[in-house]
Amino acid sequence: MDAGVKGARVLLGVTGGIAAYKAASLTSALVQRGANVDVIMTAEAERFVAPLTFASLTARPVYTSLWDAPERIPHIRLVREAQVVLVAPATAQCIAKLALGLADDLLSTALLAARVPIAIAPAMNATMYEREATQEHLAILRDRGCTIVEPEEGYLAEGERGVGRLASEERLLETLERLLTPASLAGMRVAITAGPTREAFDPVRFVSNAASGATGIALAREAARRGAEVTLLLGPTQLEPPLGVRTVRVLTAQSMLDAALAHAIGSDVTIATAAVADWRPTEYAAQKRKKDAGVLDVHFEQTPDVLAALGDRKGETFLVGFAAETQEHERNARDKMRRKHLDAIVANDVSSERGFGLVENALVLFWGNDGRKDLGRAEKDVLAARLWDAIEGIRACS
Ligand code: CTP
Repeated sequence: MDAGVKGARVLLGVTGGIAAYKAASLTSALVQRGANVDVIMTAEAERFVAPLTFASLTARPVYTSLWDAPERIPHIRLVREAQVVLVAPATAQCIAKLALGLADDLLSTALLAARVPIAIAPAMNATMYEREATQEHLAILRDRGCTIVEPEEGYLAEGERGVGRLASEERLLETLERLLTPASLAGMRVAITAGPTREAFDPVRFVSNAASGATGIALAREAARRGAEVTLLLGPTQLEPPLGVRTVRVLTAQSMLDAALAHAIGSDVTIATAAVADWRPTEYAAQKRKKDAGVLDVHFEQTPDVLAALGDRKGETFLVGFAAETQEHERNARDKMRRKHLDAIVANDVSSERGFGLVENALVLFWGNDGRKDLGRAEKDVLAARLWDAIEGIRACS
C-alpha cells in the first residue's frame, strides 16, 4: 500500500506568527521525505519569512496573493491538486476566519475550497490561545473534521511561558503521515511487545541482549497511522516510543508477562517482537556483589514465555510471533508457530545479528499450513507497512 508523505502532495499554509520560521524547517523535512510541497503564505507571514525561503526549499513557486495570476484561479487549483492541507503556524485570525467561513485572501479561500483533510497547528500567545473565542473556533473546526495539532507548553516569544508554542516538527510530520495513510485498522485494538528485557542479579548488573525495540516501535507507529488503538509494551531501550500510542514500560520478562496479560488479552491483533531474555538469575543480591569472591557464580532459570502465555489465552486475537533464527528458518519458525498457538510467525534472520538494532532487516512471514510471504529486505518502517498489509490480507481471507 502506498501511503505516507513520500510522493504525497502537501499544501502548507503559513500565517503571520513568529513560528513562521519553523514552517521553513518543516518544509525542508517534508521535501527530504519525498513530499511535493506547495506553500501559500499570508501577507502577515511574509513579514516574518521571505517567500524566497520556501521557494528555495521546495523548488516551486510560493503563492502569496489571489491576484498574482487570477486567470489560473490558484486557490482552487492548489487545493484540488493537494492530498492534504496543513496550516502551520495558524494564527487566531486564520482560525477565526476558517471557523466563520471568511475568505478574503488566498489561504482563506483555498481552505474554504478544500475537500481534502485539513490540519491546523495553532501557535500564539497563551492568553490568546486560551480565550473563549479561540477555543470555540477550534471546537467548531474539530467538529467539522479538521485535525487540530495542539500547541505545546513552553517559552513563548514575548518572554512568557504557557501553552502556545507550535507543535513539534515530529508531531506535525506524524499528523501528516496519519492523514495520508488509509485508516484500514480503524476501530481495532492492537498490542505489541518490543525491546529487550533486563534480568538483574545485583543492583547494578543484569543480563540482557542487544535488541533495540525498533521493529516493534515501527509496527506500533504504522498501526497507529492506520487508525488502530495501539498499546506498546516496551522493554528498556534508548529509542523513543511513537506518538499516538499508549506505551507501557516494562523491565523484566515477568513484568512483560504481567503487562501482556493485563493489556494484550482481548485485542484484535497482538504482535510479539520483544527479545525477552530466555534466562534470569535465580538469585538477586540486595547489595552490589564484590569482586573478592573471584569467580562469579550465578545460576539461571528460564523466564516465563510471554507469547506462549498469550497463545494459551488466545480467544479471537490474531496472534503473531517473531522467530529469531540463525538456521533452518522456515522449519524452526513453523515449529514455534504451532507450539505457541500462533496465527502467523515472522522469521527474522539473526545470523550475524542482522536483525538487532539496525535500521534494515529481512523478514519472511509464515502462516497456516503453507502460507508464505517474503517481505524482502528493507528499512524497518517499510517492512512494518508490508507486514501490516500482509496481516490485513490474511485476516480478510480468513
Ligand atoms: N517470546 C516471548 N517470551 C519469551 C521468549 C520469546 O514472548 N520468554 C516470544 C518472542 O517475542 C517471539 C517468539 O516468542 O515473538 C519467539 O522468540 P524466539 O527468541 O525466536 O524463540 P524462543 O521461544 O525464545 O525459542 P529459542 O530461543 O529456543 O529459539
